[in-house]
Amino acid sequence: MAKSLKEIQSPIEKELRQFEVHFRDALKTKVMLLDKIMQYIIRRKGKQIRPMFVLLTANICGGIQPATYRGAALVELLHTATLIHDDVVDDAEERRGFFSLNALWKNKIAVLVGDYLLSRGLLMSLEADDFQLLKIVSNAVKLMSEGELLQIEKARTLNIDVAVYLEIIRMKTASLIASCTECGAASVTNDKNIIENMRLFGEKIGLAFQIKDDLLDYSEEQIGKPLGIDLKEKKMTLPLIHSLNQASWYDRKKVISLVKNHKGNKKELQWIKEFIIQNHGIAYSQQIMLQYKNDAMDILKTFPESPSKQSLIDLVNYTIDRNY
Ligand code: IPE
Ligand code: IPE
Ligand code: MG
Ligand code: MG
Repeated sequence: MAKSLKEIQSPIEKELRQFEVHFRDALKTKVMLLDKIMQYIIRRKGKQIRPMFVLLTANICGGIQPATYRGAALVELLHTATLIHDDVVDDAEERRGFFSLNALWKNKIAVLVGDYLLSRGLLMSLEADDFQLLKIVSNAVKLMSEGELLQIEKARTLNIDVAVYLEIIRMKTASLIASCTECGAASVTNDKNIIENMRLFGEKIGLAFQIKDDLLDYSEEQIGKPLGIDLKEKKMTLPLIHSLNQASWYDRKKVISLVKNHKGNKKELQWIKEFIIQNHGIAYSQQIMLQYKNDAMDILKTFPESPSKQSLIDLVNYTIDRNY
């Protein structure tokens, strides 16, 4: 049985509260409408696995420093900003088990609030002269935008293969999680080898994390966000891509044409799910996800045992066992 997030947090409970103070401080504003939305964001927080990765990585690389908290707040601010924009892009009405910002306040406001969070994160780092962290995380934000745009390009042409899929998720998701573990390390050591190793560790976790997310989109679980939305947005993810590769020329044409015209019809979604199961798309994706998880775990092996290392191991397991 995988450990719960609460159990995983135990070596860094105090530190997570410190991170939350930085996070909340960065959201202070005198504009009433904005303040109301910031309160909403604070109330409906997510799993906060990214700050956990920053703090735990810092701990195994030498011990948390003041800059580590700012790194943790920075990544969570940027993550929140990109989710708000992502829900505009994906036309998604639900996030974290409740209405998305665009559902409640419309796209105009959601876009501006995302920009606001992004700028607050960048300013927080600038004010503390955290140039190294700023560089790491800004690069991730650049990659995320490129990844989201490459994904849109592929949703238009529907000619996506496994290599392109992996490239997309490396850019849109793994880059930010890699920046968490890289920032965690860079906030406490100058050792370039360790920093690069931890970046790679986060990248592997990020790839596994997004494959899991794409599997959840085909599940029947309550995940706090819309199900089947990838197909509705014409996003072909690993389970479907693999299944198309297995299928006959005729079935392939049929499914692609179905995807092209799909507008969220439940029967069509169910039919495509069956097609994926028959062609082992789920099992294949799980296998690739596990490979990335194992790669990540291998990197951890070089570190001495400690409560934080154990929590990192548990957090990596959580990433692929989670059901929301
Ligand atoms: C969602 O990330 C975005 C993806 C990269 C799939 P999380 O699942 O970590 O989102 P929250 O912060 O817990 O809501
Ligand atoms: C992940 O994209 C979010 C970003 C990387 C910006 P998705 O669109 O796949 O994630 P969810 O499922 O909406 O959280
Ligand atoms: Mg989305
Ligand atoms: Mg998206």
